[in-house]
Amino acid sequence: MTNDTFAKDVDQGLRAPLKHISSKYFYDDIGSVIFQDIMKMPEYYPTPCEFEILSIHREEIISRLDFHEPFNIIEFGAGDGIKTRQLLKKLIENRVDFTYVPIDISQKAIDALEANMISHLPGLKIKSLVGNYFSMVEELAVFKRPGLFLFLGSNIGNYTDPEAHELLGQFNSHMRKGDKLLIGFDLQKNPATIRNAYDDSQGITKAFNMNLLQRINRELGGNFKKEFFDFYAHYNPVNGEVRSYLVSLKQQDVHLNATNQCYSFRQNELIWTELSKKYTFAEIEMLAKMSGFKLIEHFMDCKHYFTDSLWTKP
Ligand code: AVJ
Repeated sequence: MTNDTFAKDVDQGLRAPLKHISSKYFYDDIGSVIFQDIMKMPEYYPTPCEFEILSIHREEIISRLDFHEPFNIIEFGAGDGIKTRQLLKKLIENRVDFTYVPIDISQKAIDALEANMISHLPGLKIKSLVGNYFSMVEELAVFKRPGLFLFLGSNIGNYTDPEAHELLGQFNSHMRKGDKLLIGFDLQKNPATIRNAYDDSQGITKAFNMNLLQRINRELGGNFKKEFFDFYAHYNPVNGEVRSYLVSLKQQDVHLNATNQCYSFRQNELIWTELSKKYTFAEIEMLAKMSGFKLIEHFMDCKHYFTDSLWTKP
């Protein structure tokens, strides 16, 4: 991703009537480290839930793949890979022939992941790719082997419904008949549980959001002052949406060298930073169907907080 795209997106977002910056910009090297801290918070249930799913159901998941030749496991937004390791470990123990292909936009995250995977799973064949999903998926076309695509951690929840259709449709168009997608969805549950996960008392999620402003300062020559912004997260149990915001604490102007522009903020004006959608089973089934997939099975944790849903391209 070039700095130009970042500058253009920020410029567009800060000129809009409801100011917004895409949550994909959270994950620079610093933001990726803060996200690791989020995953260690007791309130952030998705990580242990998905760890449980991949530990308990890995045999069943593997048996439902139904591949009869060497295949690729392509992971989008791989992160630290601790959850995925549960699955890979079992495959190696079962002497299954596969190559692990993690894709992430942070070079540091990929380096750490690769070192970590190799130290825990010495026999693993791994081919890491740094970049955004689609340019990488294009490259994958050269592999010509069956693929299990992993899109874990409820990363899909960051996309609005039309964006999610579009993204999954694009995944689908790069897959071959019989390829599988294992995709994580955070399920609707007690609203208080969800709220606590996105508005933690230690302020780690706040720091994650504030890093966006600091990243703009670093990369686009901005002069955001973080003491003049606050963080607000809201869960709407009617539509399943967590929406996160930065709040301007006073009337202020911010200048960016990269765009040579000033942006005015009213007191209490919002910058929308993230959508983290929580799903019903009906919505998941609809999304699968609309983007050209057939749902094979839901794999859930014992509390039914989260599902890793296995889909195939028919
Ligand atoms: C990495 C997108 C799954 O939405 O739960 C965590 C990011 N944001 N806390 C999520 C996040 C605030 C996370 N995803």
